[in-house]
Amino acid sequence: MAKLEPLIIANSVQIIYKEGKHRFTAVEDVSFAVKPKEKFVIIGPSGCGKSSLLKAIAGFQPISSGELLMKGKKITSPGPDRMVVFQDFEQLLPWQTVRQNIVYALNITGKAASTANEEALHYLNLVGVSAAVDKYPHQLSGGMKQRVAIARALAVKPQILLMDEPFAALDALTRTQLQYEVNAIWQNTGVTIILITHSIQEAVYLGHQVLVMRPVPGTVKEIVDTTQIDDINSKEFANMAAHLRSLLGADSRSDTKSAKEVLFQE
Ligand SMILES: Nc1ncnc2c1ncn2[C@@H]1O[C@H](COP(=O)(O)OP(=O)(O)OP(=O)(O)O)[C@@H](O)[C@H]1O
Ligand SMILES: [Mg+2]
Repeated sequence: MAKLEPLIIANSVQIIYKEGKHRFTAVEDVSFAVKPKEKFVIIGPSGCGKSSLLKAIAGFQPISSGELLMKGKKITSPGPDRMVVFQDFEQLLPWQTVRQNIVYALNITGKAASTANEEALHYLNLVGVSAAVDKYPHQLSGGMKQRVAIARALAVKPQILLMDEPFAALDALTRTQLQYEVNAIWQNTGVTIILITHSIQEAVYLGHQVLVMRPVPGTVKEIVDTTQIDDINSKEFANMAAHLRSLLGADSRSDTKSAKEVLFQE
């Protein structure tokens, strides 16, 4: 990948949750850089602070110390340059059709144009749900809902697509299809992607860089370059998956159940 200035820089980020007198350090001393058009994956046992980090990048969660920058500026609030897709299937507005959900997002982010309807159709087409434009969310399968959520995020033309385990609740076949489609979307749009997953296979397949976290508090175990590895049948892929598995498994003593869940969700 060409040498580019980072889009996101995390410099010794710390996130502390305060509840009354209690303070809980969820993320400690996390540093990384995400370049434009990169697919950056975060993996680690449950509770290691992945979602906390993603929320901080989205601008929902203030950091307690360190620096979190987008294009050199401190992230202080959410914005349409960073759209988020969550794991939850219920992120669409239930009283609006698929098309209306997207037009609505264009309206509230101030990106609506006279062509909003056509734009909505373009992005729905990109994620393969153009046949369902006039359906309501309750009429869609989980996979279709996630596709619409991705289309809605993309329609706003964010610089970064933030995805928090977007395929975790899908069946294996749909999940594999959506991983493939996310790669195609990335090729078509060049959007920078930051994706959280529990799946080692997903991390190696989708990621250019994989940030492996260890828990309590969440810190960086290693940042692994997986740019050259995308053939899932190659020896390199298997070796990389084994490397990530060993990085994650090494922490099983401190979070046995979660680490096991990570390993067996393959
Ligand atoms: N709003 C909050 N207030 C207090 N503690 C929180 C809050 N959000 C998260 N935490 C705690 O911070 C830690 C990290 O949570 P986070 O959701 O970031 O983990 P995660 O890596 O995304 O886990 P999972 O894989 O289960 O989604 C957990 O111990 C969690 O209980
Ligand atoms: Mg999470």
